[in-house]
Amino acid sequence: MNADSFGRTVDYLRISVTDRCDERCLYCMPEGYRGWVQRDDHMTADEIIRVAEAATRLGFRKFRVTGGEPLVRADIAEIARRLWDLPGVQTLGISTNGTRLASVAKDLKRAGVRSINVSLDALAPELYRRITGGRVESVLAGIDAALGAGFEVIKINCVLMRGINEGEVLPLTRYAAEREMPIRFIELMPVSRADVLDRSSFLSVQELMRRLEREGMLLPLPDFRPGHGPAKYYAYEPIGAKVGFIGALTTRGFCETCNKLRLTADGKLRPCLGRHGEIDLLGSLRAGQTDPAGPLLQAIANKPENHEFAACYEPGRPMTAIGG
Ligand code: 5AD
Ligand code: SF4
Repeated sequence: MNADSFGRTVDYLRISVTDRCDERCLYCMPEGYRGWVQRDDHMTADEIIRVAEAATRLGFRKFRVTGGEPLVRADIAEIARRLWDLPGVQTLGISTNGTRLASVAKDLKRAGVRSINVSLDALAPELYRRITGGRVESVLAGIDAALGAGFEVIKINCVLMRGINEGEVLPLTRYAAEREMPIRFIELMPVSRADVLDRSSFLSVQELMRRLEREGMLLPLPDFRPGHGPAKYYAYEPIGAKVGFIGALTTRGFCETCNKLRLTADGKLRPCLGRHGEIDLLGSLRAGQTDPAGPLLQAIANKPENHEFAACYEPGRPMTAIGG
């Protein structure tokens, strides 16, 4: 039921619950961005649950809540709890920038959230501010709170930007290792406006791996799978860290194991982040179509074999509107 035309099992739904964010990362949100989805266009908690329930009937087992910044939604813990209560849900994660995690970490844990991914592109406060517009101190406090709340997995995400945060790779890796958190380095994807970051900012995960290997071994950990995404993990011996690499642009066969659909904050199903093409699920729900299973099946059937990042793809709207 949930196999696509290329034999991939699609059982992972990433749900963006808002396109709003209290930060404005260089690679995500063009400066001065005003293209917010109208509040009425956001899915309500009830609508999100209806879609997720239909997805579980089709065999979806993994759910992740994203944004924008999902924790800006006041009903985020309620959404998480209702998702976790659906029969068939095996795991539930949230991806956050961490700025508000300190105050809600316990509630999210109680609601059933298993895994938290925190974006952290720099530890140095000035640089963190330059990249995100925010305060790194609040994120670090959020991570401490999440560690205290006892989630199964807390991972750090770092988007690689040549000439911007290369110098943060080792400090971030040490920071993560000291707290026994896996850290993932992510290739910059051309999903924001082209004038925000150009090709000179791109740093491939292969190049990063070669640099790390100058100081010591990266041992593949083929069985270490703390998430359900495309990261490949290694043990980095000099630091004792578990490091994941997400090379959407340069890793051959990257899309072969793709298992996900995305649902945007305004209720569009997106079969692939790196391709145009959305299905207006919320529109059909609000027009009275009762079962979201139809659009979900259609999105699975429409899943393309590959993304089109290499062909200089731009999505027409920034990442914050699609869901990281
Ligand atoms: N390229 C790579 N990763 C991105 N993210 C957001 N925009 C981009 C981009 N242009 C990542 C964030 C976060 C996750 C939700 O998506 O860093 O970790
Ligand atoms: Fe906000 Fe995340 Fe986009 Fe940064 S990447 S601006 S934290 S939504």
